[in-house]
Amino acid sequence: MGYIGLPTATMFSCYGHKVIGVDVNEKVVNNINKGKIIIEEPNLEELVEDVVKKGNLIASISPKESDVFIISVPTPIKDDKTSDMSYVISATKSIIKYLKEGNIVVLESTSPVGTTEEVVKPIIEESGLKVGRDIMLGYCPERVIPGKIIYELKNNDRVIGGIDKKSAEEIRKIYKTIVDGNIYLTDCKTAELCKLMENTYRDVNIALSNELLLICDKLNINVWEVIEYSNKHPRVNLHTPGPGVGGHCLAVDPWFIIEKEPELSNIIKSSRLLNDSMPEYVYNKIDKILQKDKSKKITILGITYKANTDDMRESPIIKLIDKLLKNNYNVKVFDPYIKDFQINCQSILEACKDSDLLILGVNHDYFKNLPLDEIKTTMKGNLILDIRNFLDKEEVEKSGFIYKLLGSN
Ligand SMILES: NC(=O)c1ccc[n+]([C@@H]2O[C@H](COP(=O)([O-])OP(=O)(O)OC[C@H]3O[C@@H](n4cnc5c(N)ncnc54)[C@H](O)[C@@H]3O)[C@@H](O)[C@H]2O)c1
Repeated sequence: MGYIGLPTATMFSCYGHKVIGVDVNEKVVNNINKGKIIIEEPNLEELVEDVVKKGNLIASISPKESDVFIISVPTPIKDDKTSDMSYVISATKSIIKYLKEGNIVVLESTSPVGTTEEVVKPIIEESGLKVGRDIMLGYCPERVIPGKIIYELKNNDRVIGGIDKKSAEEIRKIYKTIVDGNIYLTDCKTAELCKLMENTYRDVNIALSNELLLICDKLNINVWEVIEYSNKHPRVNLHTPGPGVGGHCLAVDPWFIIEKEPELSNIIKSSRLLNDSMPEYVYNKIDKILQKDKSKKITILGITYKANTDDMRESPIIKLIDKLLKNNYNVKVFDPYIKDFQINCQSILEACKDSDLLILGVNHDYFKNLPLDEIKTTMKGNLILDIRNFLDKEEVEKSGFIYKLLGSN
């Protein structure tokens, strides 16, 4: 019942299915049964409240008998960058004793190629039932974006991989009750790799732009101009460079491909490593701007992994902050979406007090109209480093700042 499982369960409930929403976290279960949610997602709480009231969604700490079982548990990476499949394994084990002939099992968690057939199938067969004959099994990945999950669950196209044709067809019938987009049927491995490749495509393209940023920096060319004008070509779409790639998808999923085929995943791996190295690059930039004077105070606006979200998972700004603190810089931050980060201040001005360098870390809409004159009076120094190409150079300079932009030397 996380970011994916809960909206999915809610959608099925909205369309008249009776859904049991299982989660091992008691707090999640108790809240759902009160019609409340603990994740940030627009419009979701109203829907949950409604379906819980109607009795279509009931949360539970353990599974019960059902016609369809959908598994949507976390699939993180371990420190050695290999996949941690323990949640998928324990969730699959937890349904064994409730399975009966004719049931459908669907894995939704983003997983390495082969997981449905090689990990989930053997566990299901511990029940004594045979996949393909007694149980239908498949893989149906999710491609929603946080903030628009409800809309995208309904409207995005879906790919379903079945362990056999019948499984794929039956799973399609279930999803068709909530999905307006096209549904494409294939085998499990193809569907698993599609999901991984979608995020890898984006990670690799961001790496390409980050590489361009490094080249531009060396050649004293403005990377943002190069990208803007190159993208006037009708078949070119250079992505946005920046301080690195965060989140639990783009920074994680490519490793599942690398894990499976390390010898062949050269572009994927070097992209991942390049994106992971960007916080260090930004750190070196800051070090240069401040001439390695560790007595300087730095203010960072925004710490989440991307704009207009409260999600800090794998955030490159957190990595940058860690590096700055480890090197004894005095750092204060402000992020309007975050409450419980130890160096987060209550306001922009509080964070800027006596600061020597202001860094625009995340392009939250909240930072669109910064009170530049007040910030200037509050700060000790007059340097602004924009690592997102977000601020208006002229406006910033009008308030007496020296404006520096990542990727334009
Ligand atoms: N969040 C996204 O935007 C997104 C998008 C596409 C795919 N995915 C994939 O979907 C999967 C789920 O991601 P998420 O963001 O929803 O994760 P999440 O951490 O928000 O939620 C997972 C939930 O599963 C629960 N859980 C763990 N083990 C369990 C078990 N054995 N039985 C029952 N519940 C258990 C946890 O308590 C948690 O509430 C992951 O594989 C992720 O990569 C996520």
